[in-house]
Amino acid sequence: MAFEKSKRLQALPPYLFIEIDKKKRAKIASGADVINLGVGDPDRPTPKFIIDRMSEVIYEPENHCYPFDEGVPAFKDSAAAFMKNRFGVELDSGSQILSLIGSKDGIAHLPLAVVNPDDVVLVPSPGYPVYNSGAIFAGGRPFSMDLTEENGYLPDLDAIPTDVAEQAKLIWVNYPNNPTSAVAPLSFYEKLVAFAAKHDLIIASDVAYSETYFEEPPYSVLEVDGAAERTIEFHSLSKTFNMTGWRLAFAAGNADVIGALGQVKGNCDSGQFNAIQWAGKEALDNIGHSDVKEMTETYRKRRDVLCDGLTKIGIDTPRSKASFFVWGKCPEGYSSMDFAGRVLEEADVVLIPGAGFAPHCDKYFRAALTVEAPRLEEAVERIGKISW
Ligand SMILES: Cc1ncc(COP(=O)(O)O)c(C=O)c1O
Repeated sequence: MAFEKSKRLQALPPYLFIEIDKKKRAKIASGADVINLGVGDPDRPTPKFIIDRMSEVIYEPENHCYPFDEGVPAFKDSAAAFMKNRFGVELDSGSQILSLIGSKDGIAHLPLAVVNPDDVVLVPSPGYPVYNSGAIFAGGRPFSMDLTEENGYLPDLDAIPTDVAEQAKLIWVNYPNNPTSAVAPLSFYEKLVAFAAKHDLIIASDVAYSETYFEEPPYSVLEVDGAAERTIEFHSLSKTFNMTGWRLAFAAGNADVIGALGQVKGNCDSGQFNAIQWAGKEALDNIGHSDVKEMTETYRKRRDVLCDGLTKIGIDTPRSKASFFVWGKCPEGYSSMDFAGRVLEEADVVLIPGAGFAPHCDKYFRAALTVEAPRLEEAVERIGKISW
């Protein structure tokens, strides 16, 4: 057979982290003590109170059948209560909340529900790659909105050409932002809702990092008057509760958009294991639990160690306001690939080069705060020995 991948798969952008991945694997294979600041996956276990609840509900036979299509109603009630308590946003849990198998599930499938072939999808660059691939799978045309230091890593909506905005169906935003860790002021969301109303766009807001913050709590787009008419927001339990492997999230917002996404999913999967949703309910109902609060404090301490440490040795790394990422600047004269390459080669520390996210981010690097503080101190010490 002369095998050929579908045109859809061939249309995906190339994977730009190949070089750094190859070097990392070679380092590990050679027995080096590699400090990996590349992975955005919490290193601590899921809090015990959530595992304890899971160990009860897993025995209940009604959880062994196919899950409810739109999600366990009690989980969706807790998601609606979370939206009300945290953001002051009132939603009907039956029609305005949908359980997801991780937010990636919803992000990847949303375009299939709302985008027609050749519709434009506005995506932030740098950004989570699935905004792009989901648009491409649906036959849409992604249009990059550059996030830059100068514009506070917020898309410049006025710079989007009118004809592009007119052909667009969907606009993605993600705050707290991966990879830049930027947060959006409410005034930006107000502008976004007005822009979307003007061009009749659906707003898709990815708030996977909304509960990891070190200053004011990040906003929900749904807090803006009129947003619920055209917004779907993706909330994830992955990072807040160290539950990346469990695969649980929910979408919240406009009932028609939620319904359409549910219809796509109804044809692709049968929903998340009910027992996981019951454990997720326990998590959402206890978001103020000391084990959850402690994680944020842990990330705050790690952030201070890494950002202050790197800045002290001449690598400008501002303290992030939210998320567990830091976004620093490579030393003068270095491309991000060269910088990350030397750091891996000479210090055995993995950083992600900004150019891997977007060509205009070649002055920057991303590091994740998902290793313990003493290891971060060691990483800084090792990088400090390199002369630039
Ligand atoms: C910005 C962003 N959105 C969404 C996700 C997906 O998270 P999950 O599918 O675990 O909810 C990630 C995961 O790394 C992410 O970084």
